[in-house]
Amino acid sequence: MANGRTFGIMTTNSNHDNQQQADGLDRVRIFDTTLRDGEQSPGAAMTHEEKIEVAALLDEMGVDIIEAGFPIASNGDFDAVNAIAKQVKSAVVCGLSRAGFKDIDRAGEALKPAKRRRIHTFISTSPVHMKHKLQMEPPAVLEAVAASVARARNWTDDVQWSAEDATRTEPDFLCRTVEAAIRAGAGTINIPDTVGYATPQEYFELIAMLKNRVPGADRVVFSTHCHNDLGLAVANSLAGVLAGARQVECTINGIGERAGNAALEEIVMAIRVRKDRMPFATGIKTEMIARASKLVSNVTAFPVQYNKAIVGKNAFAHESGIHQDGMLKNAQTYEIISPASVGVTGTALVLGKLSGRHAFRDKLASLGYVLGDNALEDAFRRFKDLADKKKHIFDADIIALVDDSVLRRQDPIQVHALKINAGKDVIPAAELTLKVGAELRSGAAQGDGPVDAIFNAIRQLYPHPAHLQLFQVSAVTEGTDAQAKVSVRLEEDGRTVTGHGADTDTLVASAYAYVNALNKLLVKRKKSVPEKLTVAR
Ligand code: KIV
Ligand code: ZN
Repeated sequence: MANGRTFGIMTTNSNHDNQQQADGLDRVRIFDTTLRDGEQSPGAAMTHEEKIEVAALLDEMGVDIIEAGFPIASNGDFDAVNAIAKQVKSAVVCGLSRAGFKDIDRAGEALKPAKRRRIHTFISTSPVHMKHKLQMEPPAVLEAVAASVARARNWTDDVQWSAEDATRTEPDFLCRTVEAAIRAGAGTINIPDTVGYATPQEYFELIAMLKNRVPGADRVVFSTHCHNDLGLAVANSLAGVLAGARQVECTINGIGERAGNAALEEIVMAIRVRKDRMPFATGIKTEMIARASKLVSNVTAFPVQYNKAIVGKNAFAHESGIHQDGMLKNAQTYEIISPASVGVTGTALVLGKLSGRHAFRDKLASLGYVLGDNALEDAFRRFKDLADKKKHIFDADIIALVDDSVLRRQDPIQVHALKINAGKDVIPAAELTLKVGAELRSGAAQGDGPVDAIFNAIRQLYPHPAHLQLFQVSAVTEGTDAQAKVSVRLEEDGRTVTGHGADTDTLVASAYAYVNALNKLLVKRKKSVPEKLTVAR
Protein backbone atom coordinates (compact mmCIF):
# COMPACT_ATOMS: atom_id res chain seq x y z
CA MET A 1 0.00 0.00 0.00
CA ALA A 2 1.32 3.44 -0.92
CA ASN A 3 2.67 5.58 1.85
CA GLY A 4 0.56 8.52 2.94
CA ARG A 5 -2.76 6.82 2.20
CA THR A 6 -5.55 8.25 4.34
CA PHE A 7 -7.63 5.97 6.55
CA GLY A 8 -10.58 4.33 4.89
CA ILE A 9 -13.09 1.76 5.98
CA MET A 10 -12.40 -1.73 4.74
CA THR A 11 -14.79 -4.52 5.48
CA THR A 12 -13.61 -7.98 6.41
CA ASN A 13 -14.67 -10.97 4.34
CA SER A 14 -14.03 -13.42 7.13
CA ASN A 15 -16.18 -16.53 6.95
CA HIS A 16 -15.05 -17.40 10.45
CA ASP A 17 -16.72 -14.55 12.22
CA ASN A 18 -20.31 -15.54 12.60
CA GLN A 19 -20.81 -12.80 15.17
CA GLN A 20 -20.28 -10.06 12.64
CA GLN A 21 -22.96 -7.83 11.22
CA ALA A 22 -24.68 -7.44 14.62
CA ASP A 23 -27.14 -4.54 14.39
CA GLY A 24 -26.15 -4.13 10.76
CA LEU A 25 -22.68 -3.09 11.95
CA ASP A 26 -19.47 -5.04 11.63
CA ARG A 27 -18.77 -6.76 14.91
CA VAL A 28 -15.39 -6.13 16.56
CA ARG A 29 -14.42 -8.81 19.04
CA ILE A 30 -13.03 -7.68 22.35
CA PHE A 31 -10.12 -9.84 23.52
CA ASP A 32 -9.27 -8.92 27.09
CA THR A 33 -5.74 -9.65 28.29
CA THR A 34 -5.93 -8.00 31.74
CA LEU A 35 -5.24 -11.37 33.35
CA ARG A 36 -2.24 -12.12 31.13
CA ASP A 37 -0.45 -9.10 29.63
CA GLY A 38 -1.90 -6.88 32.39
CA GLU A 39 -1.21 -9.21 35.30
CA GLN A 40 2.34 -9.99 34.27
CA SER A 41 3.35 -6.35 34.54
CA PRO A 42 5.54 -5.73 37.60
CA GLY A 43 3.51 -5.15 40.74
CA ALA A 44 0.12 -6.09 39.24
CA ALA A 45 0.09 -9.68 40.52
CA MET A 46 -3.34 -10.93 41.53
CA THR A 47 -4.23 -13.84 43.76
CA HIS A 48 -6.04 -16.89 42.41
CA GLU A 49 -9.36 -15.71 43.87
CA GLU A 50 -8.91 -12.21 42.47
CA LYS A 51 -8.27 -13.59 38.98
CA ILE A 52 -11.45 -15.65 39.20
CA GLU A 53 -13.41 -12.59 40.30
CA VAL A 54 -12.03 -10.47 37.45
CA ALA A 55 -12.74 -13.23 34.90
CA ALA A 56 -16.34 -13.56 36.12
CA LEU A 57 -16.88 -9.84 35.70
CA LEU A 58 -15.32 -9.79 32.22
CA ASP A 59 -17.55 -12.68 31.20
CA GLU A 60 -20.66 -10.95 32.51
CA MET A 61 -19.60 -7.74 30.82
CA GLY A 62 -19.64 -9.36 27.37
CA VAL A 63 -15.92 -9.73 26.63
CA ASP A 64 -15.62 -12.14 23.67
CA ILE A 65 -12.30 -13.73 24.56
CA ILE A 66 -10.64 -13.74 28.00
CA GLU A 67 -6.90 -14.39 27.95
CA ALA A 68 -6.72 -15.99 31.37
CA GLY A 69 -2.96 -16.45 31.71
CA PHE A 70 0.20 -18.16 30.54
CA PRO A 71 -0.11 -21.72 31.86
CA ILE A 72 3.55 -22.78 31.48
CA ALA A 73 4.74 -19.73 33.47
CA SER A 74 3.97 -21.20 36.90
CA ASN A 75 1.72 -23.67 38.69
CA GLY A 76 -0.26 -20.69 39.92
CA ASP A 77 -0.89 -19.51 36.33
CA PHE A 78 -1.86 -23.02 35.26
CA ASP A 79 -4.33 -23.35 38.15
CA ALA A 80 -5.86 -19.94 37.48
CA VAL A 81 -6.38 -20.64 33.76
CA ASN A 82 -7.82 -24.04 34.64
CA ALA A 83 -10.22 -22.61 37.23
CA ILE A 84 -11.31 -19.81 34.89
CA ALA A 85 -11.85 -22.37 32.12
CA LYS A 86 -14.22 -24.25 34.45
CA GLN A 87 -16.13 -21.18 35.52
CA VAL A 88 -16.60 -18.95 32.46
CA LYS A 89 -20.06 -19.24 30.92
CA SER A 90 -20.04 -17.33 27.63
CA ALA A 91 -16.61 -16.04 26.65
CA VAL A 92 -13.92 -18.03 24.90
CA VAL A 93 -11.14 -18.76 27.41
CA CYS A 94 -7.65 -18.39 26.02
CA GLY A 95 -4.20 -19.43 27.26
CA LEU A 96 -0.89 -18.09 25.96
CA SER A 97 2.03 -20.26 24.93
CA ARG A 98 5.37 -19.80 23.22
CA ALA A 99 6.10 -21.93 20.16
CA GLY A 100 7.51 -24.93 22.08
CA PHE A 101 5.38 -28.07 22.27
CA LYS A 102 5.70 -28.22 26.07
CA ASP A 103 4.21 -24.72 26.34
CA ILE A 104 1.38 -25.53 23.95
CA ASP A 105 0.49 -28.81 25.65
CA ARG A 106 0.46 -27.13 29.06
CA ALA A 107 -1.94 -24.48 27.71
CA GLY A 108 -4.09 -27.21 26.14
CA GLU A 109 -4.25 -29.10 29.47
CA ALA A 110 -5.17 -25.98 31.45
CA LEU A 111 -7.95 -25.07 29.03
CA LYS A 112 -9.52 -28.55 28.84
CA PRO A 113 -12.60 -27.78 30.98
CA ALA A 114 -13.57 -24.64 29.00
CA LYS A 115 -16.81 -24.64 27.02
CA ARG A 116 -15.00 -22.66 24.31
CA ARG A 117 -11.22 -22.58 24.35
CA ARG A 118 -8.45 -20.96 22.38
CA ILE A 119 -4.70 -21.49 22.36
CA HIS A 120 -2.71 -18.36 21.58
CA THR A 121 0.79 -19.22 20.41
CA PHE A 122 3.44 -16.69 19.44
CA ILE A 123 7.01 -16.29 18.24
CA SER A 124 9.13 -13.24 17.47
CA THR A 125 9.54 -12.31 13.83
CA SER A 126 11.57 -9.07 13.87
CA PRO A 127 15.29 -9.17 12.99
CA VAL A 128 16.33 -7.84 16.42
CA HIS A 129 14.23 -10.41 18.32
CA MET A 130 15.17 -13.35 16.09
CA LYS A 131 18.87 -12.57 16.34
CA HIS A 132 19.26 -11.57 19.98
CA LYS A 133 16.33 -13.11 21.81
CA LEU A 134 15.63 -16.33 19.94
CA GLN A 135 19.04 -16.76 18.32
CA MET A 136 17.23 -18.39 15.42
CA GLU A 137 17.53 -17.91 11.67
CA PRO A 138 14.37 -16.85 9.75
CA PRO A 139 13.81 -20.28 8.09
CA ALA A 140 13.79 -21.94 11.53
CA VAL A 141 11.27 -19.36 12.79
CA LEU A 142 9.08 -20.05 9.77
CA GLU A 143 9.18 -23.77 10.54
CA ALA A 144 8.34 -23.11 14.19
CA VAL A 145 5.28 -21.07 13.17
CA ALA A 146 3.80 -23.94 11.17
CA ALA A 147 4.73 -26.59 13.74
CA SER A 148 3.38 -24.62 16.73
CA VAL A 149 0.04 -23.83 15.12
CA ALA A 150 -0.35 -27.46 13.98
CA ARG A 151 0.44 -28.66 17.50
CA ALA A 152 -2.12 -26.28 19.01
CA ARG A 153 -4.74 -27.49 16.51
CA ASN A 154 -4.44 -30.95 18.11
CA TRP A 155 -6.02 -29.40 21.21
CA THR A 156 -8.61 -27.06 19.72
CA ASP A 157 -9.95 -25.74 16.41
CA ASP A 158 -9.63 -22.20 17.74
CA VAL A 159 -5.96 -21.25 17.42
CA GLN A 160 -4.57 -17.73 17.44
CA TRP A 161 -1.07 -16.97 16.22
CA SER A 162 0.93 -13.80 17.02
CA ALA A 163 4.01 -12.38 15.35
CA GLU A 164 5.76 -10.83 18.31
CA ASP A 165 7.30 -7.45 17.43
CA ALA A 166 5.35 -7.51 14.15
CA THR A 167 5.60 -3.76 13.64
CA ARG A 168 9.42 -3.97 13.44
CA THR A 169 9.36 -7.05 11.22
CA GLU A 170 10.50 -6.96 7.60
CA PRO A 171 7.14 -6.88 5.62
CA ASP A 172 7.91 -9.75 3.19
CA PHE A 173 8.97 -12.01 6.04
CA LEU A 174 5.89 -11.04 8.06
CA CYS A 175 3.68 -12.00 5.09
CA ARG A 176 5.41 -15.38 4.86
CA THR A 177 4.97 -16.12 8.58
CA VAL A 178 1.30 -15.09 8.52
CA GLU A 179 0.74 -17.28 5.48
CA ALA A 180 2.43 -20.23 7.25
CA ALA A 181 0.21 -19.74 10.31
CA ILE A 182 -2.95 -19.62 8.20
CA ARG A 183 -1.95 -22.74 6.24
CA ALA A 184 -1.28 -24.59 9.50
CA GLY A 185 -4.79 -23.77 10.75
CA ALA A 186 -4.74 -20.50 12.73
CA GLY A 187 -8.14 -18.76 12.66
CA THR A 188 -6.96 -15.50 14.23
CA ILE A 189 -3.79 -13.64 13.30
CA ASN A 190 -2.60 -11.13 15.86
CA ILE A 191 -0.22 -8.33 14.85
CA PRO A 192 1.39 -6.96 18.03
CA ASP A 193 3.01 -3.58 18.27
CA THR A 194 5.06 -5.12 21.07
CA VAL A 195 7.19 -2.09 21.85
CA GLY A 196 4.56 0.58 21.17
CA TYR A 197 6.54 2.01 18.27
CA ALA A 198 3.98 2.29 15.47
CA THR A 199 1.99 5.33 14.41
CA PRO A 200 -1.71 5.03 13.47
CA GLN A 201 -1.13 5.54 9.74
CA GLU A 202 1.65 2.98 9.72
CA TYR A 203 -0.38 0.40 11.66
CA PHE A 204 -3.35 0.92 9.33
CA GLU A 205 -1.10 0.26 6.35
CA LEU A 206 0.41 -2.83 7.96
CA ILE A 207 -2.97 -4.50 8.55
CA ALA A 208 -4.21 -3.47 5.11
CA MET A 209 -1.03 -4.81 3.48
CA LEU A 210 -1.39 -8.20 5.18
CA LYS A 211 -5.06 -8.45 4.24
CA ASN A 212 -4.28 -7.60 0.63
CA ARG A 213 -1.13 -9.65 0.13
CA VAL A 214 -1.32 -12.82 2.19
CA PRO A 215 -3.05 -15.79 0.55
CA GLY A 216 -5.88 -16.99 2.77
CA ALA A 217 -6.15 -13.67 4.65
CA ASP A 218 -9.86 -13.53 3.86
CA ARG A 219 -10.39 -16.73 5.88
CA VAL A 220 -9.05 -15.39 9.19
CA VAL A 221 -9.74 -12.63 11.68
CA PHE A 222 -6.95 -10.08 12.05
CA SER A 223 -6.33 -8.80 15.54
CA THR A 224 -4.62 -5.73 17.01
CA HIS A 225 -2.39 -5.81 20.10
CA CYS A 226 -0.91 -2.37 20.71
CA HIS A 227 1.32 -1.22 23.54
CA ASN A 228 1.20 2.34 24.76
CA ASP A 229 4.86 3.43 24.92
CA LEU A 230 4.14 6.51 22.79
CA GLY A 231 0.59 6.94 24.08
CA LEU A 232 -0.78 5.65 20.76
CA ALA A 233 -2.14 2.23 21.73
CA VAL A 234 -5.82 3.10 21.38
CA ALA A 235 -5.31 5.19 18.22
CA ASN A 236 -3.27 2.40 16.63
CA SER A 237 -5.84 -0.27 17.55
CA LEU A 238 -8.66 1.77 16.02
CA ALA A 239 -6.57 2.39 12.92
CA GLY A 240 -6.15 -1.38 12.69
CA VAL A 241 -9.92 -1.85 12.90
CA LEU A 242 -10.43 0.71 10.15
CA ALA A 243 -8.00 -1.30 8.03
CA GLY A 244 -10.03 -4.47 8.55
CA ALA A 245 -8.95 -6.00 11.86
CA ARG A 246 -11.97 -7.40 13.68
CA GLN A 247 -10.43 -8.26 17.05
CA VAL A 248 -8.88 -5.79 19.49
CA GLU A 249 -6.66 -6.96 22.35
CA CYS A 250 -6.89 -4.66 25.32
CA THR A 251 -6.93 -4.46 29.12
CA ILE A 252 -9.10 -2.80 31.75
CA ASN A 253 -7.63 0.60 32.68
CA GLY A 254 -4.97 -0.05 30.01
CA ILE A 255 -2.76 -1.92 32.49
CA GLY A 256 0.18 -3.83 31.12
CA GLU A 257 3.92 -3.84 31.13
CA ARG A 258 5.75 -0.51 30.81
CA ALA A 259 3.19 2.05 29.58
CA GLY A 260 0.51 -0.63 29.27
CA ASN A 261 -1.86 -1.87 26.58
CA ALA A 262 -4.78 -0.29 24.75
CA ALA A 263 -7.52 0.44 27.31
CA LEU A 264 -10.67 -1.62 26.79
CA GLU A 265 -12.97 1.15 28.00
CA GLU A 266 -11.48 3.69 25.57
CA ILE A 267 -11.71 1.34 22.57
CA VAL A 268 -15.29 0.34 23.35
CA MET A 269 -16.54 3.86 24.02
CA ALA A 270 -14.75 5.38 21.02
CA ILE A 271 -16.46 2.82 18.79
CA ARG A 272 -19.81 3.44 20.48
CA VAL A 273 -19.66 7.24 20.47
CA ARG A 274 -18.12 7.69 17.01
CA LYS A 275 -20.21 5.24 14.97
CA ASP A 276 -20.36 7.89 12.28
CA ARG A 277 -16.63 7.39 11.66
CA MET A 278 -16.30 3.81 12.91
CA PRO A 279 -19.45 1.89 11.98
CA PHE A 280 -18.73 -1.12 14.20
CA ALA A 281 -20.27 -2.78 17.23
CA THR A 282 -18.84 -4.58 20.25
CA GLY A 283 -20.71 -6.87 22.61
CA ILE A 284 -19.64 -5.00 25.76
CA LYS A 285 -22.24 -3.96 28.34
CA THR A 286 -20.77 -0.52 28.79
CA GLU A 287 -22.69 0.10 32.03
CA MET A 288 -20.30 -2.34 33.69
CA ILE A 289 -17.16 -0.42 32.74
CA ALA A 290 -16.84 1.62 35.95
CA ARG A 291 -17.24 -1.50 38.10
CA ALA A 292 -14.62 -3.38 36.10
CA SER A 293 -12.22 -0.46 36.34
CA LYS A 294 -12.63 -0.27 40.12
CA LEU A 295 -12.22 -3.98 40.59
CA VAL A 296 -9.00 -4.13 38.57
CA SER A 297 -7.61 -1.04 40.26
CA ASN A 298 -8.46 -2.54 43.62
CA VAL A 299 -6.96 -5.97 43.15
CA THR A 300 -3.78 -4.66 41.53
CA ALA A 301 -3.48 -1.54 43.72
CA PHE A 302 -2.78 0.39 40.50
CA PRO A 303 -4.59 3.70 40.97
CA VAL A 304 -6.48 5.10 38.00
CA GLN A 305 -5.10 8.43 36.85
CA TYR A 306 -7.60 11.20 37.78
CA ASN A 307 -7.92 12.49 34.23
CA LYS A 308 -7.97 9.03 32.59
CA ALA A 309 -10.51 8.88 29.75
CA ILE A 310 -13.81 7.18 30.63
CA VAL A 311 -12.89 5.87 34.10
CA GLY A 312 -10.82 8.63 35.75
CA LYS A 313 -12.27 10.36 38.81
CA ASN A 314 -12.47 13.61 36.83
CA ALA A 315 -13.72 12.14 33.55
CA PHE A 316 -17.19 13.58 34.19
CA ALA A 317 -16.33 16.42 36.58
CA HIS A 318 -17.04 19.98 35.47
CA GLU A 319 -15.14 22.46 37.58
CA SER A 320 -15.08 25.77 35.74
CA GLY A 321 -18.04 28.16 36.07
CA ILE A 322 -18.58 28.41 32.31
CA HIS A 323 -18.72 24.63 31.93
CA GLN A 324 -21.00 24.20 34.93
CA ASP A 325 -23.35 26.83 33.58
CA GLY A 326 -23.46 25.08 30.19
CA MET A 327 -24.03 21.70 31.83
CA LEU A 328 -26.97 23.04 33.82
CA LYS A 329 -28.57 24.35 30.62
CA ASN A 330 -27.92 21.19 28.61
CA ALA A 331 -25.54 18.31 29.45
CA GLN A 332 -24.60 17.95 25.78
CA THR A 333 -22.74 21.25 25.89
CA TYR A 334 -19.74 19.60 27.52
CA GLU A 335 -20.56 15.89 27.77
CA ILE A 336 -20.14 13.49 24.85
CA ILE A 337 -20.82 10.39 26.97
CA SER A 338 -23.45 10.11 29.67
CA PRO A 339 -21.84 8.98 32.94
CA ALA A 340 -24.62 6.40 33.38
CA SER A 341 -23.69 4.74 30.07
CA VAL A 342 -20.38 3.63 31.63
CA GLY A 343 -21.87 2.89 35.04
CA VAL A 344 -20.83 6.09 36.82
CA THR A 345 -23.66 6.71 39.26
CA GLY A 346 -22.48 10.00 40.72
CA THR A 347 -22.22 10.74 44.38
CA ALA A 348 -25.78 10.13 45.45
CA LEU A 349 -26.36 9.89 49.14
CA VAL A 350 -27.51 6.34 49.55
CA LEU A 351 -28.19 5.14 53.03
CA GLY A 352 -28.26 6.53 56.52
CA LYS A 353 -28.07 5.49 60.12
CA LEU A 354 -31.67 4.38 60.19
CA SER A 355 -31.59 2.24 57.05
CA GLY A 356 -32.52 -1.37 57.70
CA ARG A 357 -31.18 -4.71 56.49
CA HIS A 358 -33.66 -4.83 53.64
CA ALA A 359 -32.62 -1.46 52.18
CA PHE A 360 -28.98 -2.42 52.68
CA ARG A 361 -29.43 -5.70 50.80
CA ASP A 362 -31.30 -3.92 47.95
CA LYS A 363 -28.50 -1.38 47.73
CA LEU A 364 -25.91 -4.14 47.54
CA ALA A 365 -27.87 -5.86 44.78
CA SER A 366 -28.02 -2.61 42.77
CA LEU A 367 -24.22 -2.39 43.10
CA GLY A 368 -23.85 -5.97 41.86
CA TYR A 369 -23.20 -7.73 45.18
CA VAL A 370 -25.08 -10.83 46.27
CA LEU A 371 -23.84 -11.93 49.71
CA GLY A 372 -24.60 -15.06 51.68
CA ASP A 373 -26.37 -14.65 55.03
CA ASN A 374 -23.23 -14.55 57.19
CA ALA A 375 -21.34 -12.18 54.91
CA LEU A 376 -24.42 -9.96 54.70
CA GLU A 377 -24.70 -9.88 58.48
CA ASP A 378 -21.02 -8.93 58.81
CA ALA A 379 -21.28 -6.23 56.17
CA PHE A 380 -24.47 -4.84 57.74
CA ARG A 381 -22.80 -4.64 61.16
CA ARG A 382 -19.89 -2.73 59.64
CA PHE A 383 -22.29 -0.45 57.79
CA LYS A 384 -24.01 0.44 61.08
CA ASP A 385 -20.62 1.14 62.71
CA LEU A 386 -19.68 3.34 59.77
CA ALA A 387 -23.00 5.20 59.93
CA ASP A 388 -22.23 6.03 63.57
CA LYS A 389 -18.93 7.62 62.57
CA LYS A 390 -19.78 9.16 59.22
CA LYS A 391 -22.77 11.39 58.47
CA HIS A 392 -23.12 10.83 54.72
CA ILE A 393 -22.75 7.37 53.24
CA PHE A 394 -22.26 7.07 49.49
CA ASP A 395 -22.16 4.17 47.01
CA ALA A 396 -18.36 4.28 47.13
CA ASP A 397 -18.45 3.84 50.94
CA ILE A 398 -20.65 0.77 50.64
CA ILE A 399 -18.41 -0.71 47.94
CA ALA A 400 -15.26 -0.15 50.03
CA LEU A 401 -16.89 -1.55 53.12
CA VAL A 402 -18.24 -4.69 51.45
CA ASP A 403 -15.05 -5.34 49.49
CA ASP A 404 -13.14 -4.98 52.72
CA SER A 405 -15.34 -7.21 54.89
CA VAL A 406 -15.75 -9.91 52.23
CA LEU A 407 -12.02 -9.74 51.64
CA ARG A 408 -11.02 -10.28 55.24
CA ARG A 409 -13.78 -12.56 56.58
CA GLN A 410 -11.94 -15.82 55.93
CA ASP A 411 -8.45 -14.61 56.84
CA PRO A 412 -6.87 -16.83 59.53
CA ILE A 413 -4.93 -13.86 60.93
CA GLN A 414 -7.13 -10.95 62.04
CA VAL A 415 -6.56 -7.59 63.71
CA HIS A 416 -8.30 -8.01 67.05
CA ALA A 417 -7.37 -4.74 68.82
CA LEU A 418 -5.16 -1.76 68.10
CA LYS A 419 -4.13 1.30 70.12
CA ILE A 420 -1.76 3.96 68.83
CA ASN A 421 0.20 6.64 70.62
CA ALA A 422 1.51 9.30 68.25
CA GLY A 423 1.85 13.06 67.88
CA LYS A 424 4.42 15.84 67.90
CA ASP A 425 7.47 15.03 70.08
CA VAL A 426 6.07 11.62 70.94
CA ILE A 427 7.78 8.35 70.01
CA PRO A 428 5.13 6.60 67.94
CA ALA A 429 4.05 3.30 69.47
CA ALA A 430 1.44 0.67 68.69
CA GLU A 431 -0.21 -1.83 71.01
CA LEU A 432 -1.64 -4.62 68.93
CA THR A 433 -3.54 -7.85 69.43
CA LEU A 434 -3.69 -10.29 66.53
CA LYS A 435 -6.00 -13.26 66.41
CA VAL A 436 -4.06 -16.10 64.82
CA GLY A 437 -6.51 -18.95 64.40
CA ALA A 438 -8.00 -19.32 67.85
CA GLU A 439 -4.99 -17.79 69.65
CA LEU A 440 -4.71 -14.15 70.73
CA ARG A 441 -1.21 -12.64 70.49
CA SER A 442 -0.55 -9.23 72.02
CA GLY A 443 2.50 -7.00 71.85
CA ALA A 444 3.76 -3.47 71.44
CA ALA A 445 6.30 -1.82 69.14
CA GLN A 446 7.70 1.59 68.30
CA GLY A 447 8.47 2.98 64.88
CA ASP A 448 9.49 5.95 62.76
CA GLY A 449 5.83 6.90 62.55
CA PRO A 450 2.54 5.33 63.65
CA VAL A 451 2.24 3.18 60.52
CA ASP A 452 5.80 1.94 60.93
CA ALA A 453 5.05 1.12 64.59
CA ILE A 454 1.97 -0.91 63.58
CA PHE A 455 3.88 -2.83 60.93
CA ASN A 456 6.71 -3.52 63.40
CA ALA A 457 4.16 -4.85 65.90
CA ILE A 458 2.69 -7.15 63.25
CA ARG A 459 6.18 -8.46 62.38
CA GLN A 460 6.88 -9.04 66.05
CA LEU A 461 3.66 -11.00 66.64
CA TYR A 462 3.86 -12.93 63.39
CA PRO A 463 7.50 -13.01 62.23
CA HIS A 464 7.97 -13.26 58.44
CA PRO A 465 10.76 -12.29 56.05
CA ALA A 466 8.61 -10.43 53.47
CA HIS A 467 9.63 -6.94 52.32
CA LEU A 468 7.22 -4.05 52.11
CA GLN A 469 7.06 -2.91 48.48
CA LEU A 470 4.14 -0.52 48.50
CA PHE A 471 2.10 1.41 51.02
CA GLN A 472 -0.66 3.43 49.41
CA VAL A 473 -3.50 5.44 50.94
CA SER A 474 -6.48 6.97 49.17
CA ALA A 475 -9.76 8.45 50.34
CA VAL A 476 -12.93 6.63 49.32
CA THR A 477 -15.01 9.84 49.19
CA GLU A 478 -14.55 13.54 49.89
CA GLY A 479 -14.32 15.09 53.38
CA THR A 480 -12.25 14.54 56.48
CA ASP A 481 -14.62 11.83 57.72
CA ALA A 482 -14.03 9.81 54.52
CA GLN A 483 -12.99 6.18 54.77
CA ALA A 484 -9.33 5.58 54.02
CA LYS A 485 -8.53 2.78 51.59
CA VAL A 486 -5.04 1.39 52.14
CA SER A 487 -3.10 -1.03 49.95
CA VAL A 488 0.02 -2.86 51.10
CA ARG A 489 2.22 -4.91 48.80
CA LEU A 490 4.60 -7.51 50.26
CA GLU A 491 7.27 -9.48 48.46
CA GLU A 492 8.84 -12.74 49.59
CA ASP A 493 11.06 -15.00 47.45
CA GLY A 494 9.73 -13.53 44.21
CA ARG A 495 6.11 -13.88 45.29
CA THR A 496 4.16 -10.63 45.46
CA VAL A 497 0.82 -10.07 47.16
CA THR A 498 -1.29 -6.97 47.67
CA GLY A 499 -3.54 -6.58 50.70
CA HIS A 500 -6.28 -4.02 51.20
CA GLY A 501 -8.06 -2.45 54.15
CA ALA A 502 -10.68 0.27 54.57
CA ASP A 503 -11.76 2.18 57.67
CA THR A 504 -12.53 5.74 58.72
CA ASP A 505 -9.30 5.50 60.73
CA THR A 506 -6.32 5.45 58.35
CA LEU A 507 -4.14 3.63 60.89
CA VAL A 508 -6.69 0.88 61.46
CA ALA A 509 -7.07 0.56 57.66
CA SER A 510 -3.26 0.26 57.41
CA ALA A 511 -3.20 -2.59 59.93
CA TYR A 512 -6.04 -4.35 58.07
CA ALA A 513 -4.22 -3.97 54.74
CA TYR A 514 -0.89 -5.32 56.05
CA VAL A 515 -2.53 -8.29 57.76
CA ASN A 516 -4.61 -9.00 54.65
CA ALA A 517 -1.40 -9.08 52.57
CA LEU A 518 0.18 -11.41 55.13
CA ASN A 519 -2.77 -13.79 54.87
CA LYS A 520 -2.46 -13.82 51.09
CA LEU A 521 1.24 -14.58 51.42
CA LEU A 522 0.45 -17.63 53.56
CA VAL A 523 -1.85 -18.94 50.83
CA LYS A 524 0.85 -18.37 48.20
CA ARG A 525 3.46 -20.09 50.36
CA LYS A 526 1.21 -23.15 50.66
CA LYS A 527 0.87 -23.36 46.91
CA SER A 528 4.66 -22.87 46.68
CA VAL A 529 4.42 -21.30 43.26
CA PRO A 530 7.79 -21.23 41.53
CA GLU A 531 9.07 -17.94 40.22
CA LYS A 532 7.47 -16.78 37.01
CA LEU A 533 9.14 -17.16 33.65
CA THR A 534 9.90 -13.88 32.01
CA VAL A 535 8.05 -13.35 28.78
CA ALA A 536 8.57 -10.49 26.43
CA ARG A 537 5.32 -8.63 25.98
O1 KIV B 1 3.16 -7.59 23.10
C1 KIV B 1 3.24 -8.73 22.61
O2 KIV B 1 3.90 -8.95 21.59
C2 KIV B 1 2.54 -9.83 23.28
C3 KIV B 1 2.48 -11.13 22.56
C4 KIV B 1 2.85 -12.25 23.45
C5 KIV B 1 1.11 -11.30 21.97
O3 KIV B 1 2.00 -9.66 24.34
ZN1 ZN C 1 1.77 -7.45 24.78
